[in-house]
Amino acid sequence: MDHKVTVVGAGHVGATTVQRIAEAELADVAMVDIMADMAKGKALDLMESAPVLGFNAKIEGGGDYDITAGSDVCVVTAGLPRKPGMSRDDLLAKNRAIVGGVIEELVKRSPDTILIIVTNPLDAMCEVARQVSGFPRERVMGMAGVLDAARMRYFIAAELGVSVEDVDAFVLGGHGDTMVPLPRFATVNGVPLPQLLSADRIEAINDRTRKGGGEIVNLLKEGSAYYAPSAASVDMVSAILRDKKKILPCAVYLNGEYGLDGIFMGVPAKLGRRGMEEVVQLELSGAERAELERSADAVRELVGAL
Ligand SMILES: NC(=O)c1ccc[n+]([C@@H]2O[C@H](COP(=O)([O-])OP(=O)(O)OC[C@H]3O[C@@H](n4cnc5c(N)ncnc54)[C@H](O)[C@@H]3O)[C@@H](O)[C@H]2O)c1
Repeated sequence: MDHKVTVVGAGHVGATTVQRIAEAELADVAMVDIMADMAKGKALDLMESAPVLGFNAKIEGGGDYDITAGSDVCVVTAGLPRKPGMSRDDLLAKNRAIVGGVIEELVKRSPDTILIIVTNPLDAMCEVARQVSGFPRERVMGMAGVLDAARMRYFIAAELGVSVEDVDAFVLGGHGDTMVPLPRFATVNGVPLPQLLSADRIEAINDRTRKGGGEIVNLLKEGSAYYAPSAASVDMVSAILRDKKKILPCAVYLNGEYGLDGIFMGVPAKLGRRGMEEVVQLELSGAERAELERSADAVRELVGAL
């Protein structure tokens, strides 16, 4: 393959991300986990699926970061998942130590890499990655908005009985209970959502979107969602490696955009080979802006707790 991607954490999200990258032949993949043999075993298992599925990407697994050297993109999923009844914020202290250590190891071996953070609490972990790596904001971003928007898109498609392919939506803000679904910017084959659904139904979809992660956690009983989170992560990886200039909602370090400064927030961003190439500014209504500011307060509180 022309590209190399590292995925740290060979758990549910990590291993599924590796599988999706390899099957799409996006890149060769190094998969690292503190449980070295588990990562090695999953990598071998995945490679043994290659002859059946016919993909040529190479997957190497283990606990030694030397296998990650020269990665174009590193996806960080290492950490503890949420348990039922546990908020993302409860994870802060434990995952801060894990993510900080992981980033140190990665940047030593791939100083030019682009970091995509997945570990929760997402916006705070992005800040840890930014501080520890010392990278410019173009090369540190978080995955959340693509997932949250995908959930919203699915709920809209199911409600209207239309193809998911016809539905677009944006979810901005922090990746938590204060996320900001933007139905005004949601469309079904170009038709604005408010023309298709009543305000009550839209609010029900917004609410289900905000609680989308918790809904899965409660059903699974153990661990949290990973099929959609891995798909969302790979969407970002693919936009970068293939220089697509795709506009995706990502957690991005803001420098005054949306009136916010020095904080990671989910906003639409253009992803290409240089990473986060541009923050796309939407004209928000007063109510939408107020919701975004509320979300920013929640993220600031979290980062302050770091
Ligand atoms: N941003 C999002 O939208 C989103 C979505 C889903 C999950 N997540 C988060 O992603 C993370 C991973 O979720 P999961 O379901 O894959 O969990 P998981 O428990 O299945 O996998 C996590 C893996 O990290 C490994 N790990 C722990 N400490 C490590 C270290 N120091 N170095 C290397 N590896 C280490 C564990 O051994 C485990 O294999 C969690 O924090 C979860 O909350 C975020």
